[in-house]
Amino acid sequence: MSRRTLIVGNWKMNGMNVDGIALAKGVADKIKAAGDTSFDMLICPPYTLISSVVATLSGSALSVGAQDCHTEENGPYTGDISASMLKDMGCSFVIVGHSERRSKHDENNAQVLSKAKIANSVGLNTVICIGETETERDTSDTINVVKAQITGSVPVSATAKNTVVAYEPVWAIGTGRTPTNDEVQKIHEVIRSQLAFKLGVDTANGIRLLYGGSMNAENAKDLLSLPDVDGGLIGGASLKVNDFWTIGECCP
Ligand code: PGA
Repeated sequence: MSRRTLIVGNWKMNGMNVDGIALAKGVADKIKAAGDTSFDMLICPPYTLISSVVATLSGSALSVGAQDCHTEENGPYTGDISASMLKDMGCSFVIVGHSERRSKHDENNAQVLSKAKIANSVGLNTVICIGETETERDTSDTINVVKAQITGSVPVSATAKNTVVAYEPVWAIGTGRTPTNDEVQKIHEVIRSQLAFKLGVDTANGIRLLYGGSMNAENAKDLLSLPDVDGGLIGGASLKVNDFWTIGECCP
């Protein structure tokens, strides 16, 4: 099954209005100038920038997503944002289960599952993040960890259309370190077969699997050419138009 490559920029907690608008416009202009691209692009700004970025991108092929959502649709959750609010603002995607949420906000698989479910139920697509810590890697636990994360965080309602899974080894995020290409391909194969076990072979073969963790203009071409890598989730290198766009240009 052919899967269209998806390049996602996770801006994390970066940018004032003026920066976000300039960055979004810069990427959108590159897409427009390129005409027909072989890949899709999505940017995930912080909540505060979503409205102005959506307005800036009116008519553009560049999609907008959020970096997290709450497990509930509304209610007494001071400071939180629901999936339906994100949809209402013009988002088409939401990232759930990023390792920075799992580690710094103590999110577990059950919460990530609830977030993914509610996001899908309001019509948002999800980027569900999984990946092992350095200690788990050092104790040869990577495969068990990612399998358990798939089992626990991916809802049975997941489809090839509404779900993307991002494999992000925690030790590779923002460190400049990456697994070898062989390791990435092998883990993506495990992820796909675990998805097949849960959702059936057809759905698993249609779901896009992204690699994330220090993807940049230098390593993107090799990573994106691996058979089970269908795109990238990019943090640091998504904050500069040219760096982000160069990764897009590495798509097969
Ligand atoms: P990085 O971040 O590209 O800066 O390593 C990736 C991520 O956290 O999604």
